[in-house]
Amino acid sequence: MKLSRFTFLLIFTLASFGVGFAEDGVKGGVKMPEPGSPGDTLTKEDARMAYLVYKLLDKNGKIKGADLKKGEKLFYQNCRPCHGDDGRRLDFTPTEPRRTFIGDRAREEMPTFWYQMNFGDEDREMEAYYDEISLEEMVHIAGFAQTLP
Ligand code: HEC
Repeated sequence: MKLSRFTFLLIFTLASFGVGFAEDGVKGGVKMPEPGSPGDTLTKEDARMAYLVYKLLDKNGKIKGADLKKGEKLFYQNCRPCHGDDGRRLDFTPTEPRRTFIGDRAREEMPTFWYQMNFGDEDREMEAYYDEISLEEMVHIAGFAQTLP
């Protein structure tokens, strides 16, 4: 809960400041620093979250450009050991009447999913994959996860 509020806050903050990733680095007539250049003051967390919002999500909250076959393979390799074959081994809301699995999160709250996959959660023993899995592969995993029950 804490995390999802954080991610939504972040997104609205970024959106209201007009942070964008225009191809030519120009947004609304203002020259944006090159990602990763000294003038780029976004943290890697902010940059990764902004990438999701500006590049990957369609208006229905679905991931664009995912190869589901590749995503399935990557999910089986990396996520299945803990989350289970169909993602229903770990219930994120064990104390609530409605159970919540990785597929629910991916469909209903992709920013939370995306944050967790990238940066993990030490308290909950969820690993950070930012340095392990490429951005392109994460797109496939995220898209595939939205198809899980
Ligand atoms: C070593 C075991 C392990 C592996 C491997 C693993 N996870 Fe997790 N994951 C967890 C645990 C434990 C939690 C926390 C569950 C809880 O708090 O109920 C979690 C939580 C999450 C959540 C947070 C859900 C939420 O909203 O609360 C997401 C999203 C997630 N994992 C995605 C992934 C993805 C994607 C992969 C593969 C790239 C992956 N996980 C691999 C153990 C793992």
